Amino acid sequence: MAQRKIAVKICVGTACFVQGGADLLLYEDFLEPSLLERCVIEGTGCLGGCKVQDAKSGAPFVEVDGNVHANVTVDRLRQLIKEAIDA
Ligand code: FES
Repeated sequence: MAQRKIAVKICVGTACFVQGGADLLLYEDFLEPSLLERCVIEGTGCLGGCKVQDAKSGAPFVEVDGNVHANVTVDRLRQLIKEAIDA
């Protein structure tokens, strides 16, 4: 049976893009192949996180399997994907 893919959406809205989202879009450069093959990763418009949290303190936002996370760094994105795989 094929393994379920983790759905990852990186916000490319302005607030997120300028506060680190642009770095996250380089995911192919920093995520290990073993993680990349378990995910479907795409950029997306505003996830709404910046509307409910202070955009300055919360961006960039990333959605992993339907859950929106704030302040996502390269290391945090890697960790979130690992957690989703192990869940
Ligand atoms: S711009 Fe990213 S959540 Fe709104």
